[in-house]
Amino acid sequence: MVKDPQSKYIPFVPLKLEHRAWPDKQLTHPPIWCSVDLRDGNQALVDPMNVEEKLELFHTLVDIGVKEIEVGFPSASETEFEFLRALIDGGHIPDDVTIQVLVQAREHLIRRTFEAIDGAKHVIFHFYNSTSTLQRKVVFHTDVAGVKQIAVDAADLIRELSQAALDGGMDLRYEYSPESFMGTEMDAAVEICQAVLEALRATPERKVILNLPTTVENCMPNYFADEIEYFISKLPSRESAIISLHPHNDRGEGVATAELGQLAGAERVEATLFGNGERTGNVDMVTLALNLYTQGVDPGLDFSDISKVRDVYERVTKMKIGERQPYAGELVFTAFSGSHQDAINKGTQYMEKSGSPLWEVPYLPIDPADVGRQYEPIIRINSQSGKGGAAFVMQHSFGFDLPKAMHPEFGHIVQVETDRVGTELKPQRIYELFKEHYVDATKPYELVRHSFAEFTDEEGHSHVTFAGTLRHKDTVFQVQGSGNGPIDAFFNAIHGQKMDRFTFVDYKEHAVQAGSDSLAVAYIQLRDAQGKDCFGVGISHNINLAPLKGILSAINRAVIQQ
Ligand code: KIV
Ligand code: ZN
Repeated sequence: MVKDPQSKYIPFVPLKLEHRAWPDKQLTHPPIWCSVDLRDGNQALVDPMNVEEKLELFHTLVDIGVKEIEVGFPSASETEFEFLRALIDGGHIPDDVTIQVLVQAREHLIRRTFEAIDGAKHVIFHFYNSTSTLQRKVVFHTDVAGVKQIAVDAADLIRELSQAALDGGMDLRYEYSPESFMGTEMDAAVEICQAVLEALRATPERKVILNLPTTVENCMPNYFADEIEYFISKLPSRESAIISLHPHNDRGEGVATAELGQLAGAERVEATLFGNGERTGNVDMVTLALNLYTQGVDPGLDFSDISKVRDVYERVTKMKIGERQPYAGELVFTAFSGSHQDAINKGTQYMEKSGSPLWEVPYLPIDPADVGRQYEPIIRINSQSGKGGAAFVMQHSFGFDLPKAMHPEFGHIVQVETDRVGTELKPQRIYELFKEHYVDATKPYELVRHSFAEFTDEEGHSHVTFAGTLRHKDTVFQVQGSGNGPIDAFFNAIHGQKMDRFTFVDYKEHAVQAGSDSLAVAYIQLRDAQGKDCFGVGISHNINLAPLKGILSAINRAVIQQ
């Protein structure tokens, strides 16, 4: 990099717009969507798609609900021409879908493109020429009048050649792109586009699409929005035009450019799935649509099975979607940080308790289920995870609702393991740690056999007697005690034994499986003579036995730790 970039790079000079209106506007409805996956997206691939792959992507776009699809550049190559013929002759185009074809503003290419669209029902004939100051200077060596003439000549020819298609019943519309619009002087862009509208006889009833591309993104989205607002306000035949955007992403601002451009008055957006396209790509249609969705606006596109769309995309383009790609990336519904996990956990519980239909979960701007993603793997556990994350996994993946007081202790066990292995822990490993540390803590004190006797007196009080055989290492001993319930009876039974130095603090029990075969899990919190708390877990088909196992688990864990 050079030390003084101002000596090498020319900064964008923003328009002087005094009373801009777009910052106060809101996006309340979706734009007209046009997919350019099969053209701009395809021409940017290392291995362009073959006819079968293009057909598969075309049908995927139709299933998503895209109604305007740029299918190619039929005059550019035989493959492109053949694909268009395959689409038309194979009857692949639904009646409510309009295909769009791109052509440079050059006579022989325009003529060839008319041959390619023969027989199609709804067509947008899209022609372009470059208009920017830079392109005029270094590529075309011409002035504004020169590029305007190229556009008008093309428009005249297109109008003339359209007649046969229109007479044959084709629903044929026109689109003009002043390529490199964002680098064109705005008054020149208005002059050229107005001349094209006039040459094509655009009217409010028969509007022409004016597509204003950021062919190479060269300014901040707010400056671009100023350009759009200015352009629209100066265009004499504005009512005869549909203003379309075609953002690229060179500065990584394509989405913002499309959003602010719509605030400034644009009605249509040309985009690609996951932002494929020349260089850094075209603007990402998925992100734009789901951004609208999470603001409560129906985008008119269906991404409820985003993984399926992603699979098709990756297969046909041979491109990979990044792990952090908004909405679609592998990791975007995964929280690694403990405080995030905790907040997600609380948000989920809040939604369950409140029964509110509104999505209010911190750190998750969209319900993963709305795009067909799994809710369960949202939380993965690594060394950055907090106490709530492991408990969340136990609850959502395995149905164990650990008492809140136990979260820090179990969280610590999991954290020690993540530090040891140095990688993220999968839910199954978290379950194994839970089992190893709590459920399998069956030594040194073991319950060999036991029985309960229970009766209820005339006043309705329950009396339970516990009689059992316990083993401590090689010593087997008998205990017996009574109480008002199984736990009380057991504690009275072990009174006087070495293991009686614990006081009972709390207890929680729930079923982990539904039906007659259900398992009960009991979480026991005990406190030793030094005031230190210790937890135990017992699991059994018998709801009286689960807490006893839990008590022994807590005692055994305390004894081992000491
Ligand atoms: O990026 C661009 O300017 C284009 C035009 C052909 C619309 O792709
Ligand atoms: Zn483009």
